[in-house]
Amino acid sequence: MTITQTPAWQALLNHHRDLAATTMRDLFDADPARGETLQAEGAGLYLDYSKNRVTGETLRLLFDLARTAGVEARRDAMLAGDTINVTEGRAVLHTALRTPGGASVLVNGRNVVPDVQEVLGRMATFAEAVRGGQWRGLTGQPIRNIVNIGIGGSDLGPVMAAEALKHYAQRDLTLRFVSNVDGTDLVEKTRDLDPAQTLFIVSSKTFTTQETMANAASARSWLLSALGDEAAVARHFAAVSTNAAAVQAFGIDPANMFGFWDWVGGRYSLDSAIGLSLMLAVGPAHFHELLAGFHEMDEHFRTAPLEQNLPVLLAMLGVWYHNFFGAATHAVLPYDQYLAYFPAYLQQLDMESNGKHITLDGQEVDYQTGPVIWGQPGTNGQHAFYQLIHQGTQLIPCDFIGFCQTLNPLPLPNGAPHHDLLMANVFAQTEALAFGKSLERVLAEGVPADLAPHRVFEGNRPTNTILADRLTPRILGALIALYEHKVFVQGTVWNINSFDQWGVELGKVLASQIVPELHGVGTPELGHDSSTNALIRHYRARR
Ligand code: F6P
Repeated sequence: MTITQTPAWQALLNHHRDLAATTMRDLFDADPARGETLQAEGAGLYLDYSKNRVTGETLRLLFDLARTAGVEARRDAMLAGDTINVTEGRAVLHTALRTPGGASVLVNGRNVVPDVQEVLGRMATFAEAVRGGQWRGLTGQPIRNIVNIGIGGSDLGPVMAAEALKHYAQRDLTLRFVSNVDGTDLVEKTRDLDPAQTLFIVSSKTFTTQETMANAASARSWLLSALGDEAAVARHFAAVSTNAAAVQAFGIDPANMFGFWDWVGGRYSLDSAIGLSLMLAVGPAHFHELLAGFHEMDEHFRTAPLEQNLPVLLAMLGVWYHNFFGAATHAVLPYDQYLAYFPAYLQQLDMESNGKHITLDGQEVDYQTGPVIWGQPGTNGQHAFYQLIHQGTQLIPCDFIGFCQTLNPLPLPNGAPHHDLLMANVFAQTEALAFGKSLERVLAEGVPADLAPHRVFEGNRPTNTILADRLTPRILGALIALYEHKVFVQGTVWNINSFDQWGVELGKVLASQIVPELHGVGTPELGHDSSTNALIRHYRARR
C-alpha cells in the first residue's frame, strides 16, 4: 500500500475539500486565541504556526499521517545507527557528531563517540595553534588567511555558518571559500592574499570530487610558484576527508588530516571535521556551543510528542501544502543579515535529500516529493519577489525567521533602533500574507473602482514564524538541526531515501567524458546527440 492509499492520506484529501473555502480570517474569527495556542517551543526556538490553513482537525489528521508513515520508528532507527540509507548500505548518524562525550552510539557494535571526540580534540589543537599564531608557514610567518576548498556539503555548511557566526569570529583572520570549478573563484579569492600567510583546507568527503581536486591542484601551484619549495605543502595545506590514501597521495601530511566517517552525509557534515574552517574562525568554544545547540534540537526531536515537536510540525505543514494544495515551492526568509546564506544551505539540505521519485521499495511515487526551496534575507526580498507571494497565482508557504535581540544595536538619529524596523517588517509581512486587504477596505479608502482590484490582497497565504532571542552559536545549531529533522520527517512520509544523491552522478560522468573532447589533441569524434555535438563544436571553434 502506498502512502496515498492509506486511510490517513484519504482522510486528509477529504478534509482538504471541506476546508477549501475557509480562510485564515475565518479561522482566527472562530478561535481568536489561536495565535497563543498554535505555537510550540524547543531548544531556544519559538514557533508560531497559527497563520496556517489548518484547524485542530487538520493537525490531528497530519499527525495521524506521520504515525501511519512510521515517523517515530524510523527516527528511532536513525538515532540507533540502523542502516537506514539502504541504497548506499550506511547508517545515518550525523546526530552522533554532536552527542556529548561519554555517551555511546554504536555503529556495527562500535561506539563512535570516542572517535568523534578524538577528531574534535585534534581540530581544537590545530585551530588554537593557527588562531594564536603558533602555527607557522614555510617562511616562519603566522597564518592570517584561511581558504577552504570544497563544494556542496563540504562548502555550503561552513560558508553559511561562518557568515552566520561572523559576530563571534576572530577578525584578524581572513576566511574565504572556493567552490566553483570556474577558475575565477580561486583567482579572485586569492589575488590579494600573501601565500606565506595562507592556509588551504581541502575539504572533501571522497577526495575525488572534480571541482575540489582541480581547485586544490591550482591552489598548490599558486602556493609553490610563490614559495618555491615542496615542503610548503605540509605547512600550508590541511585536509578534511574520509579518504586518507587520496589525501596522502596529494602530498598532505597525515598529521594535518582530519577524518570523518561514511555515516555522515555531505549535506549533514557541518558539525564533523568539515566544520574545521568554521572552528578556525570562531574558535573551539563557540564550535562546541554550536554542537550543543544541534544536540538540544536532536533531543527535542527524539523526545517531544509529535504534536509539540518542532521538526515534525514544520514537516507536516509542508506536506499539507505540498501534497494537498499543490504548492511547488517553499520560501525561507531570515530577517537577519548574518543568515544571508541560510536559504542556499537549506537548498542543498532539502533538495538533494528529498528530490527523489523512487520509493524505498523501488517504486515510482504517485505524489509530489521535495519542494523547491528558496529565499533570501528580509527586508531585501520584500523589494524583489514578495509581490508574487502576496498577489501572484501560486501558493508559496514561507518560514520567517527573526531574533528578539540584535547583535548590532544601531540607533537611528531619532533614537529608534534599526532592529525594531527590521522586526516590524517580519510581523507586518506575516499579518498581510494571512489577512490581506479586502475590496471593501480598498474602496473605503477612496481608491477608484477601476483601480481597486489591483490593490486587493486576498491574504490566506500561509507562514510559519520562528523566533529566537539572539543569534548565538547554540541557536544556529538548533536551527540547522530543526531543518535537518524536518527534511527527514518529510522523506519518511514520502517513503524515499533522503540520504543518497544518485541524481548528481550522471552529469559528473558525462562531464568527465566531455573534458578530453574539448581540449584533446586533434578533434576527437563526437558521439553525442546533435545538440550536444553542435555546442561542443561551437565551443571548440572559439575557445
Ligand atoms: O553534490 C553531490 C555531492 O556528493 C554532495 O552530496 C557532497 O556534499 C558534494 O558532492 C561534495 O562531495 P565531497 O565532499 O566528496 O567532495
